This record gives sequence, C-alpha cells and structure tokens, in this order.
Amino acid sequence: MCVDYPEKYIEHIKLKDGLEVLLRPIKPDDEDMMLELFNTFSERTIRFRFFIPIRKMSREDIKRYCNIDYRNEMAIVAEIKENGRKRLIGVARLIRDEDDKDKAEFAVVVGDPWQNRGLGRKLTEYIIRVARDMGIKELYSRVMKDNIVSLKLSREFGFEREDAGIEYLIRKKI
Ligand SMILES: CC(C)(COP(=O)(O)OP(=O)(O)OC[C@H]1O[C@@H](n2cnc3c(N)ncnc32)[C@H](O)[C@@H]1OP(=O)(O)O)[C@@H](O)C(=O)NCCC(=O)NCCS
Repeated sequence: MCVDYPEKYIEHIKLKDGLEVLLRPIKPDDEDMMLELFNTFSERTIRFRFFIPIRKMSREDIKRYCNIDYRNEMAIVAEIKENGRKRLIGVARLIRDEDDKDKAEFAVVVGDPWQNRGLGRKLTEYIIRVARDMGIKELYSRVMKDNIVSLKLSREFGFEREDAGIEYLIRKKI
C-alpha cells in the first residue's frame, strides 16, 4: 500500500519544563522506536492503555501499529532528541468506526519517564484538532475508573462520561 504522509500534521512544541517535542504522524520506520517506547511503560500504564496485561509487543503488532492509512486511522507520535538520538515518548491514536466514519475511538499514552510533564494534555489537544481536520464529528474512548489523570483530563476537555462497568465510556462532539 502506498499512502501519502500527512505532513500538515507536523508541529514543534515545548513542554512546561522546556523539553522540545516534535509531534508528527507515525511512519513505517518508527517500528524500533515504538518498541523502545513500549518498553518504558509500567504495568499500570499498560493496563490503563490496553486494559489487559501485555508483556511484549510482537513484531506483527508493531508493524500494524506503524503502518496506517492516515484516513481511517491516525497516530501522532511525540518525538524528542536525547543525546543526539531520536526517541518516541508518547502517542495519540484514533480509529474511525467502520459503520460510522464520523465517529472515532481515540487513546493517548505517554511513556512513564515523561508522564506528568504536560505531554498528555498536549497530545489530547492535538488529536482533537487533527480529528476535526479529518472531518470526524465525535471522539470517544474507554477509561478505567481508577485512571484519575485521564478522567481529570477528559473532564477538562469537556468529555461526557457514561458508566460502563469497570470503565467509563467518555465521548465528545468535536
Ligand atoms: C493519561 C496520560 C496520557 C496523561 O499524560 P501525562 O503527560 O502524564 O499528563 P499531563 O502531564 O498532561 O497531566 C495532565 C494533568 O494531570 C495531572 N497529573 C498528571 N500526572 C499526575 C499524577 N501522577 N498525579 C496527579 N496528577 C497528575 C497534571 O498535573 C495535569 O494537570 P494540570 O495541567 O492541571 O497540572 C498518561 O498518564 C498515560 O499515558 N497514562 C497511561 C495510559 C492512559 O491512561 N491512557 C488514557 C486512556 S486510553
């Protein structure tokens, strides 16, 4: 599959503590950096993001993760330079519903060493902007009930919350 890389979604930002971060759509050659990012996730981060314990990401999963069509699926990675080397520190992803292309499920994750520095908020803000630009009208996500940080963020971004057992379904018209 040959797809155009959406360069319009490339942006440079700075976190509160001055860390310079490049936000950009994921690309096929991010596979190794994605694996490296996955290895920075604590058990808690994995549970909050994937809902089940995952010890290892298979090459196949990573390949699928990094090769997207940028129309029905979008992933924005946060990239930094550390000791002259590029590395990924977070990702925001959305996938349109198959039966209703106006709706998309989204998720954000930040590697544990970089959490609580403002990146989760920036990535959430950015994926909402990108979603709007892609013509998406509604975003939703599943958030575990003990995921205080994510629930705080979603409330501040105006997401409505619906009780769905061990998790909340959050949604917002954008
Ligand atoms: C949820 C998540 C993406 C937030 O990213 P983050 O970069 O850590 O969050 P931010 O630094 O932008 O913080 C957002 C707010 O939460 C607060 N916060 C962050 N970490 C916190 C902590 N450990 N304890 C208390 N408050 C915290 C921040 O102070 C900030 O509020 P403020 O702007 O009013 O100060 C990140 O914690 C994560 O990856 N969690 C695991 C995966 C997940 O839960 N994804 C969401 C469900 S799909």
